Amino acid sequence: MQRALSLVSLLVLGSAWTLQAAHVLTEPLILTQENFDLGRFMGKWYEVAVVSTCPHYMQRKRGNPIIVALELQHVPCEDNFTMMGTSFRNGSCKQMSTVHGLTTTPGRFYHHVARFGADVDSFVVHSNYDEYAMMLLLSTEKPSGNKTTTVKLYSRNMNVKAAVLDDFKTLVRQHGLSDDTIIMNQNKGECVPGEQGTKPITTQPQTLAPKKSKRNVVPPCTRGGCW
Ligand SMILES: *[C@@H]1O[C@H](CO)[C@@H](O)[C@H](O)[C@H]1NC(C)=O
Ligand SMILES: *[C@@H]1O[C@H](CO)[C@@H](O)[C@H](O)[C@H]1NC(C)=O
Ligand SMILES: *[C@@H]1O[C@H](CO)[C@@H](O)[C@H](O)[C@H]1NC(C)=O
Repeated sequence: MQRALSLVSLLVLGSAWTLQAAHVLTEPLILTQENFDLGRFMGKWYEVAVVSTCPHYMQRKRGNPIIVALELQHVPCEDNFTMMGTSFRNGSCKQMSTVHGLTTTPGRFYHHVARFGADVDSFVVHSNYDEYAMMLLLSTEKPSGNKTTTVKLYSRNMNVKAAVLDDFKTLVRQHGLSDDTIIMNQNKGECVPGEQGTKPITTQPQTLAPKKSKRNVVPPCTRGGCW
């Protein structure tokens, strides 16, 4: 009797799960870092390794495999954050700022890349905040509808532990990419825009958060006043 009952409940649970799964299947189910903490994710990162199904992206990166320094800033109560990337390109120091919108899923963001007409969903799949963040980026190019998968490893410093790199390789394989195509970016030192006599390139300079709003300095967003 006990057995029959639990079998019935298993079947009921099973079909409920299948129904739910069918809903979710229209979009890939991607789990982000548990208890994601946006505040701790902000600040400075280095993009140390990348791999993508997009041939153009891979070609571009192979041509210039240099660590990009990223500065992430979130103004409390705003539903977006800015990501400023700084790196050497073609002999000069270039900067690019992108605004990422927050979503209802913690650790999931979206942004649009006008240059490629691409909508990008990004996910912080794993992060311990003070060492590494493993990023999954799914983008859809608008006219063609082409979808690409990119996996990136962010690190708080330019050197990455072997164990972290192994976990990153596992994540890369889980998303159907080969781990021997991973591009390890090289440390060519940090550059400062302007020092080479070049002007920084910013896509949305008007949205840049003021310099003083560094992480740990900004007061926490009070509940009730905003979402
Ligand atoms: C960021 O969010 C704030 C409010 O949450 C909004 O006023 C602002 O326009 C947003 N910025 C961008 C670039 O979307
Ligand atoms: C790099 O610099 C050279 C010389 O200044 C220029 O001809 C070339 O177009 C530049 N390439 C890119 C991708 O900016
Ligand atoms: C879309 O993807 C297909 C297959 O990978 C490729 O042949 C085609 O050139 C891509 N289209 C664009 C506009 O990138």
